[in-house]
Amino acid sequence: MGKALIIGAGGVASVVVHKCCQNSEVFEEICIASRTKSKCDALRDKLAGGKTKIRTAQVDADDVGQLVALIRDFGPDIVINVALPYQDLTIMDACLETGVDYVDTANYEPPETAKFEYKWQWAYRERFEKAGITALLGSGFDPGVTGVFSAYAQKHYFDEIHQIDIVDANAGDHGYPFATNFNPEINIREVTAPGSYFEDGRFIETEPMSIKRVYDLPEIGPKDIYLLHHEEMESLAKNIRGIRRIRFWMTFSQSYLTHLKVLENVGMTSIEPIDFEGKKIVPLQFLKAVLPDPASLGPRTKGKTNIGCIFQGVKNGRERTYYVYNVCDHQACYREVGSQAISYTTGVPAMIGAMMVMTGRWKKPGVYNVEEFDPDPFMEALGKFGLPWQEDFSPALID
Ligand SMILES: NC(=O)c1ccc[n+]([C@@H]2O[C@H](COP(=O)([O-])OP(=O)(O)OC[C@H]3O[C@@H](n4cnc5c(N)ncnc54)[C@H](OP(=O)(O)O)[C@@H]3O)[C@@H](O)[C@H]2O)c1
Repeated sequence: MGKALIIGAGGVASVVVHKCCQNSEVFEEICIASRTKSKCDALRDKLAGGKTKIRTAQVDADDVGQLVALIRDFGPDIVINVALPYQDLTIMDACLETGVDYVDTANYEPPETAKFEYKWQWAYRERFEKAGITALLGSGFDPGVTGVFSAYAQKHYFDEIHQIDIVDANAGDHGYPFATNFNPEINIREVTAPGSYFEDGRFIETEPMSIKRVYDLPEIGPKDIYLLHHEEMESLAKNIRGIRRIRFWMTFSQSYLTHLKVLENVGMTSIEPIDFEGKKIVPLQFLKAVLPDPASLGPRTKGKTNIGCIFQGVKNGRERTYYVYNVCDHQACYREVGSQAISYTTGVPAMIGAMMVMTGRWKKPGVYNVEEFDPDPFMEALGKFGLPWQEDFSPALID
């Protein structure tokens, strides 16, 4: 059917590449382009010989000129951005200049401020409409599948959804005292920021990790879950009918939190540059350099993830609840594509989002979040490409 340009060659990109190759009817040709070309070449060498043709290229995705030249040379139908959130706007600019569709998994965040918001990318809406191209924002798991789950619940089970609790649990153990499951810099910026939740039309900020509950997750068991700010709350608050409250919860072990606290206390999580031996360095970027590479956790990580949404609302005047979730096994992911479940649960929906746009099912000029489209074909593809979901019509609720 067509061609995709994949930008980035890290943990998530590796899964996207594997999944595009498993779906060669749609992805006839891909180009893997990133800052470090040897990583792109290593991925190509692993997967070459199948039906999907694979090219590689070096690109600095902070540079619109380089991106435009690469897009013109390769001629993709879509650009899949699985580099870092810092590159979202330059890649969107390049898509506008070349008239090519765009998909990503994380919203823009300025490098110098740890604050991710949709306002920068939503500001492209008119320009994408005028150019007749689609930008699909946040097509990973959370954001991504959590938005699709919400649209699915709204379409099939509720007249109005009043409350959504998104619960992201990782019961995987990689055996290291401390490591992050995706890019350490992005991950630590996210978890050290103040928490927040949406209630009655506004966001209420909380101290980082100050709200904790215990939730008994299917196939994982009871876990400590902490309230965090997370980007999909911003779009779901706009797109879900009747919504009154949205909270996002993530599991952390006591050991992870203790390490994080110590690193914070000694200044290692700061993004303020400091002078070190005549050079400016950002402590968090230095920390990233000494922590294990998330892409290397695959063979070591055992256990499962469970990510899902618990809904409360009304249907035909009666109150109802609904929980939809996916359980993913780290070792099964590793056997299939050589990655752990965090990269897997992000990479599969990124490929599916691109497929939705390429096949025309989610093709509409403008800038959209996943929950603004028909969830059914995406839900069907989740099962087919390795992320089957389960439903519970009387789940335990989080107080
Ligand atoms: N929605 C979700 O559920 C979800 C979950 C997890 C992650 N994510 C997102 O997924 C994305 C990828 O995460 P990851 O864990 O795969 O990160 P990663 O392993 O650090 O990979 C990032 C890749 O981007 C490349 N890159 C960085 N800056 C670049 C630039 N200026 N030009 C070209 N390439 C550049 C890196 O190149 P080098 O190899 O040279 O460093 C690396 O290959 C992130 O945006 C993350 O926030 C989303």
